Amino acid sequence: MQPDSAQAAVCERIELALGDITREHVDAIVNAANNSLRGGGGVDGAIQRAGGPEIMAECRKIGHCATGEAVITGAGRLSARFVIHAVGPVWQGGGAGEELLLASCHERSLELAREHGCRTVSFPAISTGAYGYPPQLAAPIALAAAIEALTRLPLIEKVRFVFIDEELHGVYEKALARLKASA
Ligand code: APR
Repeated sequence: MQPDSAQAAVCERIELALGDITREHVDAIVNAANNSLRGGGGVDGAIQRAGGPEIMAECRKIGHCATGEAVITGAGRLSARFVIHAVGPVWQGGGAGEELLLASCHERSLELAREHGCRTVSFPAISTGAYGYPPQLAAPIALAAAIEALTRLPLIEKVRFVFIDEELHGVYEKALARLKASA
């Protein structure tokens, strides 16, 4: 397979969906977490509420996660088997390594998923809420990072990006179409 058609095939393993990530029926859902793993609002609050206290108890034991990294816990009452807590960067204008950190937390999440035998993984739009990352800039980075990781992780069959918000869904759809066109 030529490199270009290989990338096009990898793009087919990415899906975009509108909905609540806590309702995903996948092996692992990714949480948009913070360094202290102490919970918060947004996706984090929704996951902790829907999954129950076991998730936070495990997070407290782990204690910390660096920006650009990810850690894994069980998923409590959720349908998923695991929650991967990824810490994206706070947007500071783009000159503080945000791009690399955003890419890295996606790559690390997928590597962890693979280490735990996951075949299907759902991501939220990490950093685009409380952390203020402009979605138009975050979308191509998040998607390209997932595509890059999938080329190395053939056992991961499906990566879904799930959006609670229709406008955000549209932004990621356009970015994915551009990446597909350039593959
Ligand atoms: N399902 C899918 N997407 C959701 C959901 C949900 N249930 N709830 C919110 N979102 C979307 C938001 O619309 C936003 O675009 O997730 C995106 C990420 O927003 P945040 O959850 O605020 O994540 P982030 O910007 O990475 O900020 C992380 O927020 O909750 C705290 O503890 C967390 O301190 C950390 C910070």
